[in-house]
Amino acid sequence: MTDTHNEIKDTGLRGVKVASTRISHVAGAEGKLIYRGYLVEELAANTTFEEVCYLMLYEKLPGKTELEDFTGELKKRRHIDAQMTEALKTRPKGALPMDVLQGAVAFLANHHPHPNRLARGNELDIGMSLIAKMPTIMAAFDRIRNGKAPVAPNPDLSHAANFLHMLTGEAPDPEIARVFDICLVLHAEHSFNASTFTARQIASTQAHMFASISGAVGSLSGALHGGANERVMEMLLEIGSVDAVDAYIRKTFEGGGKIMGMGHSVYKTKDPRAKIMQPMVEKMGERTGDMKWYDIARTLEEKALAAFAENGKTGIHANVDFYSGALYYQMGIPVDLFTPVFAISRIAGWIAHVIEEQFAEAAPKAMLYRPSADYVGEYCGPAECAFVPMDKR
Ligand SMILES: CC(C)(COP(=O)(O)OP(=O)(O)OC[C@H]1O[C@@H](n2cnc3c(N)ncnc32)[C@H](O)[C@@H]1OP(=O)(O)O)[C@@H](O)C(=O)NCCC(=O)NCCS
Repeated sequence: MTDTHNEIKDTGLRGVKVASTRISHVAGAEGKLIYRGYLVEELAANTTFEEVCYLMLYEKLPGKTELEDFTGELKKRRHIDAQMTEALKTRPKGALPMDVLQGAVAFLANHHPHPNRLARGNELDIGMSLIAKMPTIMAAFDRIRNGKAPVAPNPDLSHAANFLHMLTGEAPDPEIARVFDICLVLHAEHSFNASTFTARQIASTQAHMFASISGAVGSLSGALHGGANERVMEMLLEIGSVDAVDAYIRKTFEGGGKIMGMGHSVYKTKDPRAKIMQPMVEKMGERTGDMKWYDIARTLEEKALAAFAENGKTGIHANVDFYSGALYYQMGIPVDLFTPVFAISRIAGWIAHVIEEQFAEAAPKAMLYRPSADYVGEYCGPAECAFVPMDKR
């Protein structure tokens, strides 16, 4: 063996630049998020999720007619066929929704005429269908597991409003639909986060769009990534009242646990998306006449910051998941659909990244991700282990 131990630290690739991208930029120290040159605050205030999808896929904000055509195309693709509905009916009631979603994306590949045709147009076409169908799949699964018939997509409604309609069977209040729309805009893209890197890594093997996206769904499901929004709501439910915040922080710190929805591998200041969502939660509380969730979250954030500081930890602030959970909860979205809701938004960024990975310069781009590892396993001295036959072990 010639390799030597290189003192490699397990840094989870933090700070390592693995590719160039034109899609988004996260300026961690300044707390800035930019989608294709535009500040996320401006996009949240002035655009819809459909416009952001167009921006992701076509690298510019759409004009009026472009947006109408794009939105019309998405609406045409919202429908899922009977085979998919039947497949969803065979899922056990207790199946985890992110697992169902991951399987459904692979299922769509089985029913696509040419999933493996690695041409930019084909990948874009598949991407459009995934943006359109993932909300329908998740809403249908939720209704089926609750013994209800799926609700057909409504072409008169926006992407955000239609999801809430398919979930509840009722057209949502336009104000609530807009709040949800802004949440979709805020979650649409975030550079080389774990699930996006997963998607790109799979795409780099020249696997197809469905393979990259189903892998990304699996990656997003983890508690340290997209799964955090569900854990935040579970935490708020467990805390239950503002008076119980101190005891919860103490217990978490003593047990070596984490305050979910706080801390970020890139932002060392408050996540700009949390800054936008915080007043939205407050407004939602005023609207519903129940300020409890806002009050618990705000108090928890304030007191956790103080507790982190006391322990000499700076740079741990509220992230995107800290306030989104309270919003979704008050909209009536089941807690275990919070991460799928993240996925039906992040799909926009994932598609843009898969296409950039495969077609950025040449088509297809031929650079497979293949990092190295520092082997620290059995070595047995200057030579490899002597093989021991079965009867001598
Ligand atoms: C997101 C996360 C994985 C970032 O991890 P990271 O970059 O490795 O974390 P940091 O290097 O900033 O952590 C430094 C220290 O702060 C601690 N810390 C980080 N986030 C914390 C949290 N939410 N609660 C308590 N402690 C936390 C770490 O345990 C570590 O402590 P140590 O030095 O004593 O071991 C981490 O902050 C976390 O687990 N947060 C909770 C889950 C979450 O909200 N995820 C969604 C992210 S969008």
